[in-house]
Amino acid sequence: MPLKQPNFMIRAMNFYDNDEVLDLCRYSDILLGDQVNLTMMKIDHNCLHIAEDIDNGKVVGVCSGFNLNSRCATFGEYAIAPRYRRFGIGCALWNRCIEHCLNRNCAILASAKNVTKYREKSGFTVIPSRKLLQFCGYPQLFMLNKYHEQAEIEWINAYNLADVVAYDEQITGYNRNQFIEYSNGESSSIGTMARCVESGKVLGYGIFRRVNRSTIVPQPLYANSLDIAEVLLYNALQKFTGFDKLSMECWNINDDACVLLAQDKLGLKQVKTGSTIMFTEFDMCANFKNIFCNSPSVFYPF
Ligand SMILES: CC(C)(COP(=O)(O)OP(=O)(O)OC[C@H]1O[C@@H](n2cnc3c(N)ncnc32)[C@H](O)[C@@H]1OP(=O)(O)O)[C@@H](O)C(=O)NCCC(=O)NCCS
Repeated sequence: MPLKQPNFMIRAMNFYDNDEVLDLCRYSDILLGDQVNLTMMKIDHNCLHIAEDIDNGKVVGVCSGFNLNSRCATFGEYAIAPRYRRFGIGCALWNRCIEHCLNRNCAILASAKNVTKYREKSGFTVIPSRKLLQFCGYPQLFMLNKYHEQAEIEWINAYNLADVVAYDEQITGYNRNQFIEYSNGESSSIGTMARCVESGKVLGYGIFRRVNRSTIVPQPLYANSLDIAEVLLYNALQKFTGFDKLSMECWNINDDACVLLAQDKLGLKQVKTGSTIMFTEFDMCANFKNIFCNSPSVFYPF
């Protein structure tokens, strides 16, 4: 720990800070696609703030407050480098994000040890009982359905984007056109969708991101059924070469998602006991039965 109060400044994150921010997040077990922050900054400028040590130019803290719209926001990516903790840097960053998300219903995902702190000190008093579970490991791809008789798989592109956005809106209640378009456009991501051969309707989609070169994270994976989720996952993973881990987050209230991720299917191990979602005003609901994997959970609560 620095012996005396470090000289720091709080400022909006820039694209060139991304590598240092990812390192900070990784150290605090916050798993993010390599380019997710850039996508989020394109949608909501100033959604990410960082603390910089003025003496050495290093990024020593980060916090995000992402505005979903004029009523709702999500807080996340809250981490300070260990040597810089307990000097008030966290609170300074947090306050800057609060200003950015002012007068909105805010969401945050909290580990068990932080729930009381957020409830009592920061006003996150609405606490639904569902928990977000995190699984990780090398996937047993041979256990997955490779194709589906009633569905065809398409890569997400300019021609089918509008269909994917409409499907996503049915599940989340939000129009996330920019999020889906920019996420699919990230150089290290792949987007797939499933379409019903007979009706032409979308049956599910996923965006699969690479993290730290070796891990793949679906963010999100939404589908009408377990069968469709499996086919989307299998086809997307075939496109990535040289990964050695899959990391996935799902809600404990979706039994099918838990089956897919755990021992019986993919064989991943649960690595977090369950994060609690908390809100300042009201629960932001979604069609959880269709959510096999959350969006980047520091930015969206579904
Ligand atoms: C949590 C963390 C960001 C706080 O940063 P910090 O610079 O040490 O915080 P400060 O010096 O400004 O404040 C210290 C105190 O305020 C608390 N605090 C800071 N931000 C807070 C917030 N938004 N709400 C409630 N309490 C908060 C701290 O926990 C600490 O409380 P304590 O003295 O009772 O333990 C930092 O400890 C950290 O990076 N922890 C690991 C990652 C993590 O747990 N992130 C939260 C994920 S949910």
